[in-house]
Amino acid sequence: MSSKRIILSENDIPAAWYNLLADLPQLPPPPLDPATNQPMDPAKLERVFARGLLQQEMSPERWIAIPEEIRKIYAIWRPTPLVRASGLEQALGTPARIYFKDESHSPPGSHKANTSVAQVYYNKLEGIQRLTTETGAGQWGAALSFACKMFDLKCKIFMVKVSYHQKPYRRMMMHIWGGDVTASPSIETQCGRAILEKDPDCPGSLGIAISEAVEAAVTQEGVRYTLGSVLNHVLLHQTVIGLEAEKQMLLAEDYPDVVLGCVGGGSNFAGLAFPFLRHKITGRDIRFVACEPHSCPTMSRGQYRYDYGDTSKLTPLMKMYTLGHSFMPPGIHAGGLRYHGMAPMVSLAKELGLIEAAAFHQVECFEAAQLFAATEGIIPAPESAHAIRGAIVEALRCKDTGQEKCILFNLSGHGLCDMNSYERFFSGHLEDYAYPQENIETALAELPVLP
Ligand SMILES: Cc1ncc(COP(=O)(O)O)c(C=O)c1O
Repeated sequence: MSSKRIILSENDIPAAWYNLLADLPQLPPPPLDPATNQPMDPAKLERVFARGLLQQEMSPERWIAIPEEIRKIYAIWRPTPLVRASGLEQALGTPARIYFKDESHSPPGSHKANTSVAQVYYNKLEGIQRLTTETGAGQWGAALSFACKMFDLKCKIFMVKVSYHQKPYRRMMMHIWGGDVTASPSIETQCGRAILEKDPDCPGSLGIAISEAVEAAVTQEGVRYTLGSVLNHVLLHQTVIGLEAEKQMLLAEDYPDVVLGCVGGGSNFAGLAFPFLRHKITGRDIRFVACEPHSCPTMSRGQYRYDYGDTSKLTPLMKMYTLGHSFMPPGIHAGGLRYHGMAPMVSLAKELGLIEAAAFHQVECFEAAQLFAATEGIIPAPESAHAIRGAIVEALRCKDTGQEKCILFNLSGHGLCDMNSYERFFSGHLEDYAYPQENIETALAELPVLP
């Protein structure tokens, strides 16, 4: 009998992160200074991010050693299991072999801790005492609070208002680990006050929360900003997922034909996909599918353009797939997938034809989540349910064609704090929603015209 769970030992926690920049056929266009539209002077960003993280952001090195202090904290939950989804395969009646990498094992319950621990570590090395950030569904805020507690730093979290009210338990997790949480938009920052003046009932968005968190960092001494996705260094830290999965597939004597992950800003998808993508670049035949919501279809219907990372245009301009920085997503239940942009490295991989994008409606994702819980036992985060739906579509295609493909997806987190979303699903209150084309066009018309 083949193993259900493929488990590695603590010694197998990767000793280095993998940097796809070293292997991409071309480099991503540089970030631009929003004041001049010229390439950003890295020294200017030192007021926002720790220097160690900025070095990783631009590093051409293929492998970047993981400090022992970080590996020690990783050992609380890593290596994570690779699981053969035999129950799901049976229920679908597919000849495909389905595996998932289970990132729900971290203390805060998602992959986000892989980078929060690293980001807090490098900030601590530079004597920073307090960090700010934004959070959507609360997974990143919980992960940063956990990491700050491990290294004894303080953190301030701006949580998108709609999620602040929908996800009280994640907010409580942040409190338990000492995080200070505020609903965004808030009256604590200039940009929050300006937005509330125009729209007192604004439900918030990741773009607005980023603006508040950046402002709160750059206006105070000894404070730096951290981001839970999108940037190169965040994607780098997440590659522990794919590097472990590579070893585990070897133990299973198997190899993926298709690799899938859900995408908000792109970090968990990249974490699983990038270590395998380096083999595609050297000729191996693997497909990569980034799964996103129809209500926030950044890669399926956005454009590859220079855009700001936030609503108030405080961040550098990045070349990426975007729906426009003024995009106001509907209050869908996968809060972590409501971001207007996409990681520049994931965007470039799509532009180069190395990866594909697929969009799904929220009801079909919750149906997939219910089937997954019934067959594999784990209740997934609504975000991760998009990857499950994507994997099911691939497995059903195999059923039609008779192909015995190997499918690997990332289970980015558990959904134990997402019960009100599940309740709305079961009570029939979840609606499918496709973002209107005219809204996308209006938002894109506001972008600066750059190469
Ligand atoms: C469980 C989970 N999965 C996925 C995401 C999407 O983020 P990313 O695309 O950076 O992995 C989030 C974001 O909050 C999340 O909480």
